[in-house]
Amino acid sequence: MLIIDPSARLTRTAVAIGLTCLAVLSEPAAAADGWFTPAQATQGHQFFNNQCAQCHRPDLSGAAGPALVGPAFLATWANRPLSDLYTFEHTKMPAVNPGSVPPEQLWAITAYILQKNGFASGDSNLSDTAASRPLVSSSSTPASVTHGK
Ligand code: HEC
Repeated sequence: MLIIDPSARLTRTAVAIGLTCLAVLSEPAAAADGWFTPAQATQGHQFFNNQCAQCHRPDLSGAAGPALVGPAFLATWANRPLSDLYTFEHTKMPAVNPGSVPPEQLWAITAYILQKNGFASGDSNLSDTAASRPLVSSSSTPASVTHGK
């Protein structure tokens, strides 16, 4: 006679569901957790070179203005809402002519700064819809450290 043990089947099902969840959780964070599109960051790099690099250098290492990449920068801005950084940029930068950069360009510039600090790219552009999102990077290694310039 065939005995089907329902509890064994349940256990197998539970294990299967558990493994599925694990697989989902360990997916690369890119799409869902991304901050900007690679194209936006590339555009931001151009805007940054035109409007910010004279004081912060094209690689963000700092000159007349402080470095915008690395531990000191992250110590200031990490874990605060994105809007803190954006608002600072918008009201204080560029230091010679604050507020002169159109929002769309400033978001792209911010995308470039985040990219250089190791934040992940994703499917949508950085914008004020992410304003309240705390600046927490999924990667602890700034791109500038691993890729040079
Ligand atoms: C004329 C020089 C100059 C230009 C151009 C300039 N900055 Fe700055 N920036 C500074 C100085 C000086 C500071 C430090 C002032 C302060 O903290 O109040 C600073 C500070 C900053 C900070 C804060 C850094 C930190 O860790 O506290 C950010 C972010 C920033 N600038 C972004 C930008 C962006 C984005 C642009 C281009 C749109 C830009 N800056 C253009 C001189 C400049």
